[in-house]
Amino acid sequence: MPSLSQSVTIIGTGSYAPTNIVTNDDMAKFVDTSDEWIRSRSGIGARHFAATDETTSDMACIAGKRAIEAAGIDRSEIDLIIVATMTPDMPFPSTACLVQSKLGLPNVTTFDMQAACSGFVYGLSVANSMLLSGNFKNALVIGAEKMSGILDFEDRTTCVLFGDGAGAAVLSATQTAEKVGILGALGGADGSTPSLLQQPGGGSAMPATNESIAGRQHFLKMNGKEIFKSAVRVMGQASTDIIEQMGYSPEDLNLVIPHQANMRIIESLAKRLAIPMEKFHNNLDRYGNTSAASVPIALDEAYRAGRIQSGDLILLVAFGAGLTWASTLIRWQ
Ligand code: ACO
Repeated sequence: MPSLSQSVTIIGTGSYAPTNIVTNDDMAKFVDTSDEWIRSRSGIGARHFAATDETTSDMACIAGKRAIEAAGIDRSEIDLIIVATMTPDMPFPSTACLVQSKLGLPNVTTFDMQAACSGFVYGLSVANSMLLSGNFKNALVIGAEKMSGILDFEDRTTCVLFGDGAGAAVLSATQTAEKVGILGALGGADGSTPSLLQQPGGGSAMPATNESIAGRQHFLKMNGKEIFKSAVRVMGQASTDIIEQMGYSPEDLNLVIPHQANMRIIESLAKRLAIPMEKFHNNLDRYGNTSAASVPIALDEAYRAGRIQSGDLILLVAFGAGLTWASTLIRWQ
């Protein structure tokens, strides 16, 4: 009898974006910007903004429910929820706990993952390890963000780049003849320059005061040029490292799903890997940067569009505030 491998496979995906679509031309009505500037600098054409009373956990629940339906399992079979977000409903309890209650999942370990835009890919790695431990069977990993809640609409250098939404995947531990599903994952961080991309106010370093609010310190601040340079470097390194570690070459990849921050960053990644842009799934033009939700939304979209077949080798790669970066290589089944 052949020996079996312990594998963790993605058995269902789902996503959700709010109904309110805001085009670049719409943005130009209340921000000093233009479709031409946003499109040429970033590749973004539109983004979705959540309603005022629509929360990160609301969006996470819809994406999670769709992923569970696609997986074809009963909700009660989920025993782990990880929600990757940097825009939680509130500092505590965790957004994952709110999702647990709203989805009515009875027996679960739940926690949030805060690795900014790398959060979902970090979350896949953690869920993979927890499932491989044998203590869990089915994990729901969600990336969800309400970026519009922390955008400074008086700062045109940042507010035009981000959008809201959620994406989710159900991971399942299984015995297979050959190793399939998540083949390997890596994550990294360099916390030495947090001010490059941060929300300064609202934590222990700067609790909310009248001054912090008047100073707009509770909004996202970014040094776009420096982040751009770091992103090009770490996206390339995280990709080549995981591909090499798993014994593959870039040309073996069937599909790359990169964090959707800027088309020029994605193009430089394609150049570094020496693979054509046709092998990338991008939706930046319609969603903008949805932070931790960007990779799972693109993954769900690519799967539902028939771009992913059983046996395909898929690279997920992300970078984000911190700085953080993460990559995962998947043999789809
Ligand atoms: N509309 C019109 N003009 C603008 C806008 C705008 N929305 N924003 C800036 N400008 C102007 C600037 O004021 C500047 O004008 P000036 O030369 O007269 O001073 C000019 O455009 C050029 O600005 P730059 O900052 O040099 O533009 P750049 O080419 O660097 O592009 C951008 C800016 C798009 C932010 C780019 O640096 C970038 O994409 N960086 C990476 C951002 C990123 O990846 N963020 C996500 C990281 S992780 C996460 O996802 C949370």
